[in-house]
Amino acid sequence: MLKAPTGFQENFLWGGAIAANQAEGAWNVNGKGPSIADVEMLPEKYARTYIWGYRHTREEVLAALKDETNYYPRRTAIDFYHHYKEDLALMKEMGFRCFRTSFSWTRIFPNGDEKEPNEEGLKFYDDLIAEITGNGMEPVMTVSHYEMPLHLSLEYGGFSSRKVADCFVRYCQVLFDRYHDKVKYWILINQINYLDIFGAPFGQFASLGMIYGYTQKDTYQAVHNQFVACASATKYAHENFPEIQIGVMLGDDTRYPATCKPEDVFAATQHNQMKLYFFSDVLLRGEYPGYALRYFSDRRIELNVMEEELKLLKENTADFLSYSYYYTYTKAAGPETKEMGGNPYLEKTPWGWSIDPLGFRNSLNQYWDRYQVPIFISENGLGALDQVEEGKIHDDYRIGYLRSHIAAMKEAVKDGVKIFGYTSWGPIDLISASQGEMSKRYGFIYVDLDDRGQGSGRRLRKDSFYWYQKVIATNGKEL
Ligand code: BG6
Repeated sequence: MLKAPTGFQENFLWGGAIAANQAEGAWNVNGKGPSIADVEMLPEKYARTYIWGYRHTREEVLAALKDETNYYPRRTAIDFYHHYKEDLALMKEMGFRCFRTSFSWTRIFPNGDEKEPNEEGLKFYDDLIAEITGNGMEPVMTVSHYEMPLHLSLEYGGFSSRKVADCFVRYCQVLFDRYHDKVKYWILINQINYLDIFGAPFGQFASLGMIYGYTQKDTYQAVHNQFVACASATKYAHENFPEIQIGVMLGDDTRYPATCKPEDVFAATQHNQMKLYFFSDVLLRGEYPGYALRYFSDRRIELNVMEEELKLLKENTADFLSYSYYYTYTKAAGPETKEMGGNPYLEKTPWGWSIDPLGFRNSLNQYWDRYQVPIFISENGLGALDQVEEGKIHDDYRIGYLRSHIAAMKEAVKDGVKIFGYTSWGPIDLISASQGEMSKRYGFIYVDLDDRGQGSGRRLRKDSFYWYQKVIATNGKEL
């Protein structure tokens, strides 16, 4: 009999996701080296607009390393490094079935290009992973989440150098060797498509290194080197540890056409191709798509690509698709201006992020139709300004956002999309990636710290804590 699914699968992985650089702090302990995240300052005049990916000169970066006057939020963050036991106990109380976090590359390879890993760094992750599993949660581990070793960025220009790609593969191998029997689900690079999505500055932050002067060719060479590094790591994992599942992760940035004018419709198609699908097409289908080849040839971008690398990509594709979903924007034909991208039908957060639950269902259907591989939603959430009133945080706005998005995800399950897990972003308040501030809070758990890291660091349960607990307990039946 033909039957549509009625809800989430029984063993659906409900949980939350954080990243080492935004939560751990402890930036210079037990042999950890400096990463690109550790020299990002809280800007003096931070505003509710993008500040991510400031351009830096080498001198600025080196000066920041020695600077003890200004505040660098990721150096201390919420001190998850020393508080993970109590924090994970709270996740357990919510009933989490999985927990996503990332390894800090520079705890394990302080400069990135050492031959042998730092045992003390690995020891921390031995304990952390044991605590996650000990609390009954499946660990979902990201290998690299916006924190390349500073040395690799400054000395080699990040992934634009094949040397850095090789260092990344070695780092992956060390992790697979050590944790293959403890960690089943791996995401190699957080939001791999964000290398270029907000233009060069973001790319510098995420993957290229931090210094001025990269060309479009360098950017795409870095993308290519990342693809090859991911395929090599996947090959190693599949050959040695068949139980490991490797995920490719996108930051969803699906654009709707700004109008039904055919030129706008096609502009949106092209945006979605090069900013989004390009990355998952290569890593899930194993080939450079035709539209990308055309894009490069129209711009005279000649990449250094070897035949054996193309073979490697073809033979070592990822096992699942993962993505973060926060918003949608629109795309019109013609050069991009600041005003573009808005959607008059959608509300926005104070940071200008549109709220579009139906867009979530739409994206799930589109990805499933395209790839037919299992999907894991690795991030979704609402950044908001919370108020503490007599020790309580009444965050009904957050509940509203998550309720509508989980409902949309449930509709996608009924549409036939195979989704095996969902981790809301920032189950505990942490440093905002784009803003560097604490006030943009995502958590079910409030952390008493302000934008300058002042406060007791105390953890408080918000109203959403109890709401999410019920969602998990009923496997998404009660929202
Ligand atoms: C995702 C990143 O893009 O969005 C996270 O993977 C980030 O690192 C999250 O924190 C939310 O963005 P922001 O800028 O509000 O922290």
